[in-house]
Order: sequence, then C-alpha cells, then structure tokens
Amino acid sequence: MIADIDIDGARLLGRLDQFAEIGATPRGGVNRQALTGLDREARSLLAGLAAARGFGVFQDPVANLFIRRSGRDDSAAPLLIGSHLDSQPAGGRFDGALGTLSAFEVLESLEDTGIETERPVEVVAWTNEEGCRFAPGCMGSSAFSARAIPAAWFELVSADGAMFGAELKATLEALPEATMRDFGMPVHAYLEVHIEQGPSLEKEDIPIGIVTGIQGTRWLQVEVSGQTAHAGTTALSYRRDPLRAMISALDTLYSTVMPQDESARFTVGRIEVEPGAINAIPELARCTIDIRHPDSLEVDRLNATIEQCFHERAKVQCCEVLFKRSFDMSPANFPEKLLVVLERAGDVAGLATKRMVSGAFHDALFINRIAPSAMIFVPCRDGLSHNEAEYTAPEHVVSGARVLLQSTVELAKG
Ligand code: GLV
Ligand code: MN
Ligand code: MN
Repeated sequence: MIADIDIDGARLLGRLDQFAEIGATPRGGVNRQALTGLDREARSLLAGLAAARGFGVFQDPVANLFIRRSGRDDSAAPLLIGSHLDSQPAGGRFDGALGTLSAFEVLESLEDTGIETERPVEVVAWTNEEGCRFAPGCMGSSAFSARAIPAAWFELVSADGAMFGAELKATLEALPEATMRDFGMPVHAYLEVHIEQGPSLEKEDIPIGIVTGIQGTRWLQVEVSGQTAHAGTTALSYRRDPLRAMISALDTLYSTVMPQDESARFTVGRIEVEPGAINAIPELARCTIDIRHPDSLEVDRLNATIEQCFHERAKVQCCEVLFKRSFDMSPANFPEKLLVVLERAGDVAGLATKRMVSGAFHDALFINRIAPSAMIFVPCRDGLSHNEAEYTAPEHVVSGARVLLQSTVELAKG
C-alpha cells in the first residue's frame, strides 16, 4: 500500500445519487447546464458539504470552485483533483460529477483518517466543461490556465436567451461564503477521474484506464445564407436555398469523412433555419460541426475539406457560406511521470489498468499546459455517454476513487 487508507464507497455512491437529483430528468439522467440555477444549486451543495468538514471554499473570476484541505506546508503549491458539475442537456449522472465527487471523497477520507499531507490538496469543480450552453467547452480550465477570461465570451448569448456575463455574475454571487481568489495560483499537479465515455474498458473487462492523452477537437459554426421566398410560387431556377446547399454538403461529408478514416470523428449536433416558416424557403441555415482527430494536422485537413465542400454546394445554390471557429483544442499528451504514479496506484489497489487515449476532451487538457496532469478512466456501460442512460457500475466508481486516493497521497507527499 502506498497509504493504508481507503475511501468510503457507500458515502461516494450516496453523494452521486444526491447530486443526480439536481436537474434530474425523467429518463434517469441530468440536465444541469453550465451557469444555470441548477448548476448553482450543485455548487452550493458541494460548498456546504465542504464547509461542514471545515475545508476552505474559494472561487475565482470564472467561478471555478475550489475546496481546500491544508497541508503541513500550506505555502506549497496544492495538488488539484476534480472535474466538473455541469452537464449536457440530456446528460448522464456520471460525466463530470463522478470526478468531482470522487475527489471530494478523497478529501473526506484523508480527513477521516487524519492523514496529513505535506502540500495542500484542493478539489476543483471547473466551470462549463460541456460548452453546450455557452461555447467553447472547458471555459473554467482554459481561463484558469490562461489567467484571463477572453473578452469575447461576454458577448455570448445562449439558446435560452441568457447572457454569459450575467449568468457568470449570478453564479459568483450565489456563493457569498466562498473566498474570491485571483487567477495565477500555482498548481503542483492535477488529476481527474472520469467515466470513459467509450466502450473499450468494458469490452476488455479492465476496471481502470490510464489516459495518456486527449485527441484534438475543433468546433465550427457554419452559416449558409440564401434568399427567403414563397414556397408555392418560387420555381426551382429562382431558388437560392441555403438548407439544400447545407444538406448536400453534409450528405457528402457523412459518407466520406468517417468512412475514409476510422480515427476521424465528424458530428453535426445542431441545425437551425430562419425564418423557419413551413411555407417559406429559408434565408439562413446554420449548423454546428464537431471535428476530432488524434493528429492536429488531420484536424486542419478535415477542416479544409469541410469548408471546400460547403463552398462548392453553396455556389450551386447561389448561396454564401461563413465559418466561425468556436473551439480549437490541440491534442495533448500527459507526462509519463504521472502515468507511472497512476499505474502504481492501480497495482496497490489490486486493479488491472490499461493505457488509452481519450476521445472526449476534458479540463485536464488545459491544466496540463500549466502543471503536470493526468486522468483515470472507469468503464462506461455500452460506451454510452452524453445520454441519460450513461452508467458506471458501483464497483467501478469505487475503484476509480481508490486509485485517485492512492495517487493523491503519493503526489501530495512532498
Ligand atoms: C466533452 O464533453 C466532449 O464533448 O468531449
Ligand atoms: Mn466530462
Ligand atoms: Mn461531457
């Protein structure tokens, strides 16, 4: 054993149930999107649990929430452990909450057993990891690592008509008990537990994934503009139909991008048309495109292919097309020295591990830019995530937290 202590599995599973009630959906998932009232409720619950244990509670200008357990040397840079509490609109109860609550369980277990760490350990709940209400994703961790909030974010308006700036302010004000701290805090290292969100651990019956890195992600907002006109009177030759151009481009991209490269990911998650009347040709067609690839050159190449295809199809319909990049995350590799710590923690806990690359993006990618970071994955039933049916079996929840506890003790030692 690195440390002769264990987590309280029943307490952790109870906490996951408790947080899953905040924004619970009828189909067993959660809808707790970033910077909403429900997100604030979850943050307040965590802050209250922390205060009850005597831990320090802090937040920074982008509403990242920190819970601190002091170390023997309280001036040392803290070890950060955590994840996020926001969810997708039809999200699962584990994506984010699992890592945040596993980290809190580690802090409580250290407190229960009176183990002193040399350096402080802080649990963090990063703001808006999902990016579905306000893009980009990983707002909290990217602002934390850049030590600033990009001015452009304050122009963002969500689909439900909320302004980012107002929602951020309300979220900060909802936790008056948290001490404000500025950006720039030094970090010793960062660890994050997360549900795999893919099928490989379950398929191979391996309880723990050691994440070696994260593939690249780019988000595009595409807008094709044409001319709205009467559905009954406008003959084909007079039409400038942006939806038709968009559908034609997407049809080609669906049948080429992923079929030609099994490492590529191409997803259209949102389509809107304006004015959106049943008897009018649309003026505008908008869609989002999520591109992923482990090789950043391939992300660029896919981006160029997508733009070219849209331009060609828009031209046929006498339409214009505009692209806006709302998120660009290069692939990341986590440092070997942390991977070894996680593997050793898995051995100590008697759990088989395997190294793997993450298909999903995570806050660890941004924190890795300023401090060594790594991630622990646990199995995900049927590989299903960003879905209300997302599920990790209780024994896997407990295993992930055990590996986090052992690694935390080792890394917070000195
Ligand atoms: C994270 O939520 C992702 O989309 O990868
Ligand atoms: Mn997540
Ligand atoms: Mn997610």
